[in-house]
Amino acid sequence: MLDSLQRLPPDTILGLAAVCRADPNPDKVDLTVGIYMDEAGVCPVFEAVKRAQQDLIHDEVSKAYIPPAGDEAFNHGMRTLLLGDGSAALADNRVGNIQTPGGCGALRIGAEIIQAAKPGTKVWVSAPTWPVHIPLLGSVGLQFETYRYYDPVNHSVNFDGMVEDLKNAKAGEVVLLHGCCHNPCGADLSLQQWQTIADMAQQQGFIPFVDIAYQGLGDGLERDAAGLRILVDRLPEVIVAASCSKNMGLYRERTGNVLFICKDAGNAEALVSQGLVAARRVYSMPPAHGAIIAGRVLQDATLNALWQKELGEMCGRINGLRTALVSKLNASTGRDFNFIEKEKGMFSFLGLSAEQAVRLREEHAVYMLDSSRINVAGVNAANIDYLAGAVAQVV
Ligand code: LMR
Repeated sequence: MLDSLQRLPPDTILGLAAVCRADPNPDKVDLTVGIYMDEAGVCPVFEAVKRAQQDLIHDEVSKAYIPPAGDEAFNHGMRTLLLGDGSAALADNRVGNIQTPGGCGALRIGAEIIQAAKPGTKVWVSAPTWPVHIPLLGSVGLQFETYRYYDPVNHSVNFDGMVEDLKNAKAGEVVLLHGCCHNPCGADLSLQQWQTIADMAQQQGFIPFVDIAYQGLGDGLERDAAGLRILVDRLPEVIVAASCSKNMGLYRERTGNVLFICKDAGNAEALVSQGLVAARRVYSMPPAHGAIIAGRVLQDATLNALWQKELGEMCGRINGLRTALVSKLNASTGRDFNFIEKEKGMFSFLGLSAEQAVRLREEHAVYMLDSSRINVAGVNAANIDYLAGAVAQVV
């Protein structure tokens, strides 16, 4: 029976990263997976994380399962990090959350909850969106419709198109939004645009599902959560999928959280119970290590301050790379790449064709997705001139 299964092609993002890893060219440039890399091309461990981890090694007395809802210090810390100290929804106890295996686990539990509430619910996704959204949510049974989001000609959000398309989102349908640092395009909504989406959700009754995997990597922790907080302050129901992969560098520790902002405390408790049953059938218990570390970093004032400083530096470096990339690319190609500086977080499209992206790979060992999405954090002082020169040769 099993021999009937065909070999599948590798994942478009992870597969390309593997091809890059195997490339012996010493000049290769890896702009594939969304992993922060420092000037030396290394994905570093935050000092705050190292310290929390050392403390944990010292204190840990058991490797027994943690509770199915996860580490309470982490859950508490994530509620505050995402919704803010002064959140009325938190004060009203209308927020429930559970720890999940990474942001993907959070998306999956969110999808399971939506499917349990109304099987086959239509989810509106941005065009483009992170490619994994579709199989992740679709395998649960949810249906999709796309809304216009990125305008590749003007290199900006097509907000008129987005609004026109979302006018068709009905009560009980779900709209998947990127909380900040849109993956793959890096173009984010302004606060006024978030208000418009909140107005529409209020009037039409659709439910926002906010995927926020890059809080702190665009404009800082508070400003990156501002759009999400507008929705939570104004709407009865919002689902949030959050990740500590990027903003704490806990990628391999699979540290995520799903939040249900509900009409009242009773609904929030009901949704947590639903989330736990869904988790039990999908993965049973969440992994402990990353969440205990993240919980300590979020709760301990000294570790928290150190983490915020390190994250601020990371964010500042990415924004500096954006500026440097614009000037190098503008100079090498004679084209206008200024839009890269306006975009946020790890990703931007260079605006190249798939054919040009393939040529960059094959002729110059510069690896980016076929869509020309680059991980800006893969650029550094040692490769930026080579990269700009290679791009100039294919455009
Ligand atoms: C990416 O888009 O590169 C990251 O979110 C990593 C992943 O899992 O694809």
